[in-house]
Order: sequence, then structure tokens, then C-alpha cells
Amino acid sequence: MTADAGIGTALSGAKVTMTGSGNPEERLVTAREAAPSAGRGKVVVRVEAAGVSFAEVQMLQHLHPFPPKFPFVPGYDLVGRITEVGEGVTGWRTGDRVAAMPRYGAWQEYAETAAKDLAPVPGDLDAAEAVALVTNGVTAYQMLDRLTGLVPGDTVLVHGASGGVGSLLTQLAVHRRLRVIGTASPAKHDAVRALGAEPLDYRTPDLTAAVRELAPHGVAAVFDHIGGRGLDAGWAMLAEGGTLVSFDSSVAGYRPGQWFRPHVPALVRTGRRFLARLLGLTGGRRMTMYYVKPGEAFNSALGALYGLLAEGVLKPEIAGRHPLDGAATALRELLDGRSVGKHVLLP
Ligand SMILES: NC(=O)c1ccc[n+]([C@@H]2O[C@H](COP(=O)([O-])OP(=O)(O)OC[C@H]3O[C@@H](n4cnc5c(N)ncnc54)[C@H](OP(=O)(O)O)[C@@H]3O)[C@@H](O)[C@H]2O)c1
Repeated sequence: MTADAGIGTALSGAKVTMTGSGNPEERLVTAREAAPSAGRGKVVVRVEAAGVSFAEVQMLQHLHPFPPKFPFVPGYDLVGRITEVGEGVTGWRTGDRVAAMPRYGAWQEYAETAAKDLAPVPGDLDAAEAVALVTNGVTAYQMLDRLTGLVPGDTVLVHGASGGVGSLLTQLAVHRRLRVIGTASPAKHDAVRALGAEPLDYRTPDLTAAVRELAPHGVAAVFDHIGGRGLDAGWAMLAEGGTLVSFDSSVAGYRPGQWFRPHVPALVRTGRRFLARLLGLTGGRRMTMYYVKPGEAFNSALGALYGLLAEGVLKPEIAGRHPLDGAATALRELLDGRSVGKHVLLP
């Protein structure tokens, strides 16, 4: 075991704890505690940047499908440098710059993280931009990459093109010379246009008709994180052979604790359309669900994204850079829909 603090040095660090469901202002507490030490197969990372994501909003509202038990340290993803390497870890040394997606535990100065899920981060990248690409970037990259039938000139619809995932998905799609229709609230249409997409208000009464006006033969793919009935509108927007990708069900209207119910419409529709496709009843259209997970494919996508960042092809939108005790402010901005891009904590 190696550490950058000498033997007997009590290293401490600040951490944010989510104490229960409710308002971020009441349920996020910042305190200083002893830093962890690295267990077997783990490393300790001095966090440079941690992402603020919609998952924390769902955890706060008790609407996340796989929530940790309260109280816990939130924080889906991080970028930082290894300060200690636990027993049994090979391939990583103190000082290495890494990224990880532990799903929770990133909102602290020192985070103990499984070594098997680390990915390298080039030393010259801005930490906030690098962390914006971890969960959101890989999600956008893999969803697009797995739709192998897309060719330049195809039109795709990206819901929430002003958000963390949507703004990256839009940039990646535009880079692949796809035409992007991006939904967002009207105040963010200029930002969506600046990314290279044609904006539409997702509250447009007949969104399918509005999309069909722009793309009369339908679109080659729809990326939907809202779920619910909107999935039927998305399905109706598809051209022959098109794909509806459902990557969350953040539809409003559920009470805290009803964590599974928002996802039922997406699961039912995916199953039904899978069978209909087998029977040749969908005109080649299909519906699929996506969920990001760590592993080799994740690391390879992240490596590709860091290459695109270094080349200047990608420019992650950073909605705000906050200290750890600004976590409640960041979550409040996300909850109130005031942000364009990704909020980041810089411990
Ligand atoms: N499946 C996975 O593995 C995976 C991975 C990462 C993220 N996600 C999910 O992806 C979603 C987006 O995450 P994010 O970090 O990008 O969140 P975000 O930054 O909060 O962005 C959310 C976006 O959704 C838009 N939006 C709000 N209501 C909408 C509606 N009714 N129809 C269409 N768009 C609407 C917002 O637009 P305005 O701000 O203009 O209102 C905003 O652009 C979240 O639900 C998250 O949990 C899933």
C-alpha cells in the first residue's frame, strides 16, 4: 500500500452527504472527515472534479431505480489523481490521473474507488470538461455508436438537446454529419442552434407533426429520456428502419418512493415492439433501451471522447463550477431547469 501522506498523518477531506429525500438545501450537508484508505482492489483518488447529474435529483426525490441507502455521499462520476493504491491493484500508481463512474461517492475530496473501473485521463485536459464526458459523454457516444445504420445526411431527434447528455449527443451527431432536430425549452433555443441543431419546443402541442414538417419521411433515430406517453410520439416520428432509444423515464407526476412506476411504460413498449418487429409488423422500426455501465467498452468510448475533446471537436457545455458546499445550488439549478450543459463540483 502506498500513500502520499506520511505514516501517522491524519489526512482529512470535505464530503457532501445526502441525508434523506427532500430539498437539496435541507438534505445536503458538507462536513470534514478523515480521508478513507484504500481497501483491497481499490484506490483513493483526490477528486479534482465531480459531476452533478439528474441521477442525484432522482435520488433526492426517491425516484432513482437503484438508490443507495440514506445517508450516503452522492456523485455519479469523478476525475482526479490517485493518492493511494490498495493491495492487489496492478496497473495504477499514485499520481495517475483517472476517471471513474462509481454512481455515488464522488462528491468528496478523497474518494475510495474500485481500481477495475478506472480509466486514464490525459494530464492537460480541464478537469470539469473531462468529468462532463464521463457518464454523459459515454452515454451519448455509445447510444450513437450502436446505431450502426446511421449515415451522413440522416436526421435524428435529440430530446433535451440543451442538457448534459443532449448537448454532447448533438455535437457528436453533427460531427458525424447527421442533421439534428433538438428539443429544449424556448429560452435555450439559441444554445441548441449554436450546437448545430434545429430547435423545437418539447411542449409543442403536436410535436410529431412539427417534426414531420421538418422531416416529412420521419427521422432515423429518436433519443428519449422522458418516457411515458412521449414514447408513442417518438415512435410515430420514426422513418422506416428507424430506432427509438429510451435512456431514462424522467417523466414528472410520480410521488417520491414510486421509483419503478415511471419505467413501466418504457419496459412494456420495448417488449411489445420487440415482438411486433419479430412478426415483421413495424416497417423495420425498433425500440431499444440504453443504460451506461463501466467496463472495457466504457473505457474505450471515454478514450475516444478525450481524443475528440483534445482535437476541439467536442466542447462540453459547463453550466456551473461549484465548490463542494455549492452542491445544493447546483442541484437546485438542475431541478429548476435553469441550466445549459453540466454542473460540476470542484472539491
Ligand atoms: N441511461 C443511462 O445510462 C443514462 C446516462 C446518463 C443520463 N441518463 C439520463 O438522461 C437524462 C438527461 O440527463 P442530463 O444529465 O442531460 O440532464 P439535464 O442536464 O438535466 O438535461 C435534461 C434535459 O431535458 C430537457 N427536458 C426537460 N423536460 C423535457 C421534456 N418534457 N421533453 C424533452 N426534454 C425535456 C431539458 O430541457 P430544458 O432545460 O430546456 O427544459 C434539458 O435539456 C436524465 O434523465 C438522466 O437520468 C441516462
